[in-house]
Amino acid sequence: MYSSKITGLGYYVPDNVVTNDDLSELMDTNDEWIQERTGIKERHWIPDGSEDSSAIMGVKAAKIAIERAGLSKDDIDFIVFATLSPDYFFPGCGVQVQDMLDLPTVGAIDIRNQCSGFIYALSTADQFIKTGMYKNILVIGAEFHSNGLDKTTRGRGVSVIFGDGAGACILSREEDNSKGILSSHLHSEGKYADKLIVASPSIKNWVPEIINSNGKDISYFPYMDGTFVFKNAVVRFSEVIMEGLEANNLQVSDIDMFIPHQANLRISQFVQKKFGLNDDQVYNNIMKYGNTTAASIIIALTEAWENGNIKDNDLVVLAAFGSGFTWGSVIIRW
Ligand code: UT7
Repeated sequence: MYSSKITGLGYYVPDNVVTNDDLSELMDTNDEWIQERTGIKERHWIPDGSEDSSAIMGVKAAKIAIERAGLSKDDIDFIVFATLSPDYFFPGCGVQVQDMLDLPTVGAIDIRNQCSGFIYALSTADQFIKTGMYKNILVIGAEFHSNGLDKTTRGRGVSVIFGDGAGACILSREEDNSKGILSSHLHSEGKYADKLIVASPSIKNWVPEIINSNGKDISYFPYMDGTFVFKNAVVRFSEVIMEGLEANNLQVSDIDMFIPHQANLRISQFVQKKFGLNDDQVYNNIMKYGNTTAASIIIALTEAWENGNIKDNDLVVLAAFGSGFTWGSVIIRW
């Protein structure tokens, strides 16, 4: 069996920065509430008239990752694209990436696991590499949230949290089994699907039915039971990190860098405190980007690597929790 290693990383966020004060002009909110409850100071939102979309931002991030991996586009064997905000209901963003990057006619799949999307995507790619089926896989997480948010006071409990952006990595075959992705651990609990959901438009509640409701049906906006999600997140984060460490006979003290999904700075801080990690063992950037869902871990991983926070041989732990519910972890020897 082969091992798989991240050989290239890249991210892209739109230039347009939206501060908490900017939001307070759209809805009844304020910088103090948002920072106190979430840690977020600003986020990047695709402005009106921009060409950007989840697929296009994914392509921009992917170009950087491919170049940094020292590969050409023809070396990519497969595409895995994680998003909850695809350009189309179907087909998925993966095939758009194949086209826009003019890659060979390689396979492409989309992963629909929301905040855990990047963990699921990386794990999926890892299996293809480990079995020897592919050598270099392009893994992308991207989200275009801003166009789908309720930017009125009615939606403030959700809309202040989310940001747009994309990250990408190349996962490559590695001969040294002591390096690369050591294991991944995936979970779901669908009975809580309605706790964090965009319910429509769906085949069961299609566009004409929403229009006929004369504005009463707003199930096309994200709904979140924030407190319930928060309580489950802190438990599942802790469990799945421990599961990953134990599977590899590792201890919390072995962690060099923990990169949590950037859902809420308070969740990250809770987990950090529980595990007794120092500030330099946890990477957070939600302050600048908000929650970019499937993009958050890969943007944070890329930034941490660019800033020199991750060194050769470090034990890097990635973990996420989100809608579904879904959660998971990936343990990497860098
Ligand atoms: O990434 C996917 C997973 N998602 C998460 O992990 C999110 C987890 N949950 C959370 O991060 C938090 O629950 C939130 C940040 C979403 C909300 O924080 P909270 O402390 O749970 O606040 P709350 O929803 O209980 O609301 C408290 C109060 C309410 O007012 P009343 O009823 O006490 O008068 C809300 O109406 O804060 C009000 N509120 C706001 N006020 C100003 C809600 N949103 C806002 C806002 N600005 N943006």
